[in-house]
Amino acid sequence: MSFPFTRMRRLRQNESMRRMVRETSLSVDDLVMPLFVCPGTGVKNEISSMPGNFHCSVDIVTEECRRIRDAGIPGVILFGIPEKKDATGSDSFSDNGIIQRALREIKKEVPGIIAITDVCFCEYTDHGHCGALVEGCVENDETLRLLQKQAVSHAQAGADMVAPSDMMDGRVRSIRTALDDEGFTHIPIMSYAAKYASAFYGPFREAAGSAPKEGDRRGYQMDPANGDEAIREVRLDIEEGADIVMVKPALSYLDIIYRVKQEFRVPVAAYNVSGEFSCITAAGQKGWIDLERVMMESLVSMKRAGADIIITYFAERTARLLARRSGTEELS
Ligand code: PBG
Repeated sequence: MSFPFTRMRRLRQNESMRRMVRETSLSVDDLVMPLFVCPGTGVKNEISSMPGNFHCSVDIVTEECRRIRDAGIPGVILFGIPEKKDATGSDSFSDNGIIQRALREIKKEVPGIIAITDVCFCEYTDHGHCGALVEGCVENDETLRLLQKQAVSHAQAGADMVAPSDMMDGRVRSIRTALDDEGFTHIPIMSYAAKYASAFYGPFREAAGSAPKEGDRRGYQMDPANGDEAIREVRLDIEEGADIVMVKPALSYLDIIYRVKQEFRVPVAAYNVSGEFSCITAAGQKGWIDLERVMMESLVSMKRAGADIIITYFAERTARLLARRSGTEELS
């Protein structure tokens, strides 16, 4: 049936009609907020490349978590900025490390929030790479042993979920085995399964001081030109025991999110990374785009592509906007 019997505009004539036929909805339940923890007390320093995001000491990050939980957001993902960096990133698996201290405080003070930890080394190593360097190259299997220590240490300090982002081969199996051996069979793994070597991480690297001193991450992160390879990466991680698989970044990789969801039908997370956040925020601040509408449009596109979970620096702003709108006003 075609025109004039079919008129697509009939179902677009007002917001109630559009709401009724809307296929995708964004909910506060889908959101995870990234947070950066740094040493000290009473510290809350804005990250210049990511307006509205802060380096927070443990006491302040705990307050942030309370506010985020009270806004209805189910989880946070924690990134640590250690006091000292060294060759193996030892702060990341120390019982007194920055993440371990934050976890103990958050779990004590903010019951109910899901504390996810980024499991990686680039923020903790003096060379800025995501693992142990041997002759200038990240040594895969040695890094696996260090990743096991880090994940177990996070679980011992109270992490509810671990999220390895290093892109070493075999890390999901290694971490799963180590967690199980230590009695943490109930702790899920969200793997950064298809993580691309992306320039969209720029603001984060400034935020975490984690840019590699020499070389780049193309020896372990994925080539942005590849799609089939993402399917192989995700399949391997699922076979190794990943509970949730992530595609990162999100906006330039919506096709990957879509393919992963269609192929595997497992929980999929999308990481709306720092560069995506900062581009939209900067253009919004300049008045070139309507920030809130672009924010909502891009987050809804991730859900439409197939993401179940969205990790985004916009999480709190989105939660407040959703609460304000409560579904009756224009959504996009
Ligand atoms: C690695 C890690 C990175 C991000 C999350 N985990 C940086 C990288 O791989 O260089 C990027 C997040 C973002 O850009 O928002 N620990």
